Amino acid sequence: CGICGVVGHRPATPIVFEALRRLEYRGYDSAGIATLTADGTIDRRRAAGKLDNLEAVLKADPLTGTTGIGHTRWATHGAPTEANAHPHAAGRVAIVHNGIIENFATLKAELESEGRIFLSDTDSETVAHLVDFYLDQGKAPRDAAFAAIKRLEGAYAIAIIFQGHDGLLIGARHGAPLAVGYGDGEMFLGSDSLALAPLASRITYLDDGDWCELTPGNVIIFNGDGQEVSRPIQNIAFMAGQVGKDGYRHYMEKELHEHPVAIGQTLQRITDPASKTIALPKMPFDPAQVPRVTITACGSAFYAGMVGRYWLESLARVPVEIDVASEMRYRDAPQPDKGVALLISQSGETADTLGVLRSLKKAGQSIVSVLNVEHSTMGRESDLVLGMVAGPEISVASTKAFTAQLSVLAALSIDFARARGTIDKTREETLTASLLDLPSRAAEVFTRVEAIQEMARIVAEARDVLYLGRGICTPIAFEGALKLKEISYIHAEAYAAGELKHGPISLIDRTVPVVAIAPSTILFDKTLSNLQEAKARGGRILAFTDAAGAKRLEGVAEHVVILPDVDAFVAPILYAIPVQILAYEVALLKGTDVDQPRNLAKSVTVE
Ligand code: G6P
Repeated sequence: CGICGVVGHRPATPIVFEALRRLEYRGYDSAGIATLTADGTIDRRRAAGKLDNLEAVLKADPLTGTTGIGHTRWATHGAPTEANAHPHAAGRVAIVHNGIIENFATLKAELESEGRIFLSDTDSETVAHLVDFYLDQGKAPRDAAFAAIKRLEGAYAIAIIFQGHDGLLIGARHGAPLAVGYGDGEMFLGSDSLALAPLASRITYLDDGDWCELTPGNVIIFNGDGQEVSRPIQNIAFMAGQVGKDGYRHYMEKELHEHPVAIGQTLQRITDPASKTIALPKMPFDPAQVPRVTITACGSAFYAGMVGRYWLESLARVPVEIDVASEMRYRDAPQPDKGVALLISQSGETADTLGVLRSLKKAGQSIVSVLNVEHSTMGRESDLVLGMVAGPEISVASTKAFTAQLSVLAALSIDFARARGTIDKTREETLTASLLDLPSRAAEVFTRVEAIQEMARIVAEARDVLYLGRGICTPIAFEGALKLKEISYIHAEAYAAGELKHGPISLIDRTVPVVAIAPSTILFDKTLSNLQEAKARGGRILAFTDAAGAKRLEGVAEHVVILPDVDAFVAPILYAIPVQILAYEVALLKGTDVDQPRNLAKSVTVE
């Protein structure tokens, strides 16, 4: 979910609404705004569905006032209905909440026994009642808010407004991000800097456990013990151009076209093109002494991590452990002395990944994170941040951040290999050169769009699709299947090609296309055999390959997309692009909501 708030002198609703537009990537199944009217009462409008629905409601029945809060929701407890939409109100309080209140059932039972009536199925409504309960006990707003916050367990970012207290906004943060923006005679709260950027050039990220009191001319921040604290103020630059669609139909289409730039800009930061060497920041440990690297991430970032494992193992000869964050967090696996944890995240806010970061930090691991949003929570809690330079990624399905992540991981693997003495100078130069060549090869992929569209027409007819890869391209098969599921709603599964015969081959018939990620590397022959096995059982083979691979696939594959020749080392980066374009083209044929597919959110800040 995304939350925001304002106290100031201008009408609050347009400010809050525009901030919600920028936060919509965090969830979009319902939305709402509450303000204080001139006579100090709380007024609110909510709507199920996307922000456009709320906009229509506001148009028909506008809100007034200069103090307001807003919310765009990704449902946890309770269906995405208007009654479950935020802001939630109780008595003299309205609140918006991002996160999960884990002890809400206990609190709710307690409040119900006090005669309080709940109108939604959400955990969040409990917060509104709890604050109002303490107001009833005669506490001032600030004290009532603090008393309530102290009782909450779980993860939250909250903003609260109070009837009769125009110009007062209280925020609290624990396990979900929240930032304060400083304006001139107006102050703002927002889930991220994107929400605040056009409003305020100076912002403060609250620390976990912090809460704050905003009035139009002042901000006071308190820590979890209720003591006033000061937190650093950062200057942020807003580049409006970065968040438009630039004439593309969807953000996803624009962001797909930004692959070459995202890879190029990222590499520019971490390589020295003249000497063809990697120039990463100095590690806060000696890579030669690292006994194991533990990689964790979610979604596409996890698949980037899977590719990273192949690189680190084969080039740098370092043992790698990898798991999705939601599993790694609770596995209670032993951690080696001097071990390194490598977290990968576009947003730097994903709750599962952040949880692993914290537990591995406690277990004594050095924390390195690969992030697009470097000043995110993960960025602030890492020992070293390796930034990608992908620019804002708005479409829910990750695109350019994925290849930027891979570019960083490739460079990191070379850096480790050099430090561990497992590659020589010539090999480093060859590998670095193949990376530096990638932006041009990536741009060439867009000359193959027609061939990809032809493949998309076959895939769009299917109900189930199998993706196959081998070795370092196996994770790209997973990425392809995930992307197709996410945005076209077609069921897709990915397998290591060699595993096909151990089960999934039973699914194969004319109606289940098999999409192979098959550059002509040393494992090509093995993949080819697996594809022949599929073809022999009536399977329709579609393949992403290169010119040499296409020749060998004649008579096996029904349709091939021929990609530029690249070194096997960088093949997973290049092949990710057409695989994502395929999902996009299928989604267009299916007419789905490409940028905001159903049930998903871009940044998931709950477990
Ligand atoms: C969500 C998004 C995915 C993304 C994943 C991890 O599930 O829908 O596209 O890969 O989160 O996000 P992160 O910001 O940690 O990379």
